[in-house]
Amino acid sequence: MNEEYNLIVKTTALVMNIVKEYVNIGDTVVDCTMGNGYDSLSLAQMAGCGKGGKLVAMDIQTAALWGTQALLEENGFKELEDNGIRLIRDSHENIDKYVKAGEPSAIVFNLGFLPGHDKKIVTSVRSTIPAIRKAIELVRENGIVSVTTYTGHAEGREEKERLSEMLAALPSKKYHVAHVDMINQKKTAPGVFFITRKKKLV
Ligand SMILES: C[S@@+](CC[C@H](N)C(=O)[O-])C[C@H]1O[C@@H](n2cnc3c(N)ncnc32)[C@H](O)[C@@H]1O
Repeated sequence: MNEEYNLIVKTTALVMNIVKEYVNIGDTVVDCTMGNGYDSLSLAQMAGCGKGGKLVAMDIQTAALWGTQALLEENGFKELEDNGIRLIRDSHENIDKYVKAGEPSAIVFNLGFLPGHDKKIVTSVRSTIPAIRKAIELVRENGIVSVTTYTGHAEGREEKERLSEMLAALPSKKYHVAHVDMINQKKTAPGVFFITRKKKLV
């Protein structure tokens, strides 16, 4: 096993491998924290952008949009719109402006700051919680929402704590929530919440 692909060691690979089990070619997928575009690229590939699949990717920083566009183009997605890809500069709490309820099979959040850029621009509990509340209502039945958290900074610790409380209180008949934590690593190692929606909300 190569460490790069060791799913327990490499959290981003773990997330994408779980998420891809919920996504078929032709689906709509959403990246709520586009960043440098690595998650967006994986999502575009698994949903078959260019073969009927659609990717909506959001970030508040222009640098994220430029970086993601370049990465997608380098990987064969030349005309983004023609390939069903929308890169949107907006906060993820407005996700419901861009996707319809029941449309996305996967919605991915990778919280924190944009690597290589200003570490003071981080996701914040004030927008993360409302965004995730919307995401779990928008995702299709038996679809998945994943949220990767980082506790190396104060805002990240608060996000993880508040999210944990909110997700633990979700009705068990409508949602199933799993939490992966690296229990023998540094306290700052990433953690992941996976939420699947079992039934339509009434
Ligand atoms: C850890 S990075 C994401 C990494 C990315 N998924 C990748 O594959 O490279 C977190 C991103 O969240 C973005 N962000 C912060 N607040 C946001 C918000 N309210 N809405 C959308 N994105 C936000 C940051 O600008 C940053 O680019």
